[in-house]
Amino acid sequence: MAVRVGRGSAVQEPDWKGPLSEAYERAVRYLEGLPERPVDSRADLAELRAALGGPLPEEPSEPREVVAALATAAEPGLVASSSGRFFGFVIGGATPAALAADWLTSVWDQNAGLYVAGPAASVVEEVAGGWLAELFGLPAGVSVGFVTGGQMANFTGLAAARHEVLRRAGWDVEADGLVGAPGVRVLAGEGRHDTIDRSLRFLGLGSGAVVPVAMDGQGRMRPDALRRALSAGDGPAIVCAQAGNVNTGAFDPLAEVCGVAHQRGAWVHVDGAFGLWAAASPRLRPLLAGVELADSWATDAHKWLNVPYDSGLVFCGHPEAHRAAMGVRAAYLVHGAAGERDEMDYNPEFSRRARGFAVYAGLLGLGRSGVAALVERSCALARRFAERLAAEGVEVLNEVVLNQVLVRFHAAGGDHDAHTRRVAELVRQDGTCWMSGTTWRGQAALRISVSNWSTDEADVDRSVAAILRCAAEDR
Ligand SMILES: Cc1ncc(COP(=O)(O)O)c(C=O)c1O
Repeated sequence: MAVRVGRGSAVQEPDWKGPLSEAYERAVRYLEGLPERPVDSRADLAELRAALGGPLPEEPSEPREVVAALATAAEPGLVASSSGRFFGFVIGGATPAALAADWLTSVWDQNAGLYVAGPAASVVEEVAGGWLAELFGLPAGVSVGFVTGGQMANFTGLAAARHEVLRRAGWDVEADGLVGAPGVRVLAGEGRHDTIDRSLRFLGLGSGAVVPVAMDGQGRMRPDALRRALSAGDGPAIVCAQAGNVNTGAFDPLAEVCGVAHQRGAWVHVDGAFGLWAAASPRLRPLLAGVELADSWATDAHKWLNVPYDSGLVFCGHPEAHRAAMGVRAAYLVHGAAGERDEMDYNPEFSRRARGFAVYAGLLGLGRSGVAALVERSCALARRFAERLAAEGVEVLNEVVLNQVLVRFHAAGGDHDAHTRRVAELVRQDGTCWMSGTTWRGQAALRISVSNWSTDEADVDRSVAAILRCAAEDR
């Protein structure tokens, strides 16, 4: 029954079961169909506009029909990014427990800003945040913020950094802004993610504040170059390190980076959007040696934990700086009593979704060993990709230390860049799997990221066959 509000009509008894069962049935059909569904979208822009567009209807519609109409119109235009054969960007799928908890998050519709507006949402963040800090090997007592993704996690960590380095220089940036403030130098590896520069734009420091630090052949920051760059100036400084280069998966040498940076009084922020999850695996953990020495950390649960979007996390080793940068008070709000955590003190949003439930459920569903197994399996499958493609003469450009593989296709005529880009295009059109191109150190490459909990050997082998088919087609 449609809900009518307005002249002469009362709100009618809602029909929950109709739209929710429609959504449930379609969801299960979609999820069960993922293994055989073409991974790329099957509708073009014009078709999607035709299916979804038109004027806003004047009259209400039955909720069940709304759900059915939306799903029918949208589904051809979906990219099956939760498929086991989606290897694009660094996109995880959704584990069953995390996905179901995400549904409940909508049903419960808590505003996760204040403890008083949803105590369970607040406590679940406290608990899941604590589990994660321990899993990542971060120092006891770090603060945590649940944000939309790596971008906002980097922003929030760098906001705390900006506060603290300026506070130490005798400047209150929250009160007085940046006009007249001491200059802040931001030193970041040449291989940093673009969300670092974008965060600096949001923070008023400007992307021009970045002093690029030379990287090695795998994209790792060079500590000697960092030392030189730090010595070339003085005053407040922030060093942005990286755990998991978006192209190669390589890790900055964190212990050395933190040692050099702290010697000069700089704050170290680690962008570990996906790389921080390597800490869950005893085998991979050495890649993160020294991670606990940093001051703030950013990561994503919607990447390797396979929690639905949107789910990023920021941790801070200086909770007072974190709160100083993010905290807010208003006369009409009911702020938490001692020990009650108001979420809005740790993230840039005011009102927001209670995204901690899905993170909590994802962790509970996998357990410590399950997260480790997921990470290790993804890395083993990445190596399988590299080995199988290399055996067929495809050039592998990176050391496959994590879940990222960069491959390059050699054209008979010599234009390897153009050939590689066409292969990337053909692979997506083929629909067996999905991956995108990149440019790594001036060379076009196909970028493969294994981040999905359901990917198995057969997915990799089927994808390798599709890639080779596409490469042969373009010769
Ligand atoms: C290293 C790194 N940092 C930051 C981000 C941005 O994360 P998000 O897309 O969740 O905002 C990404 C995304 O791929 C990333 O790989």
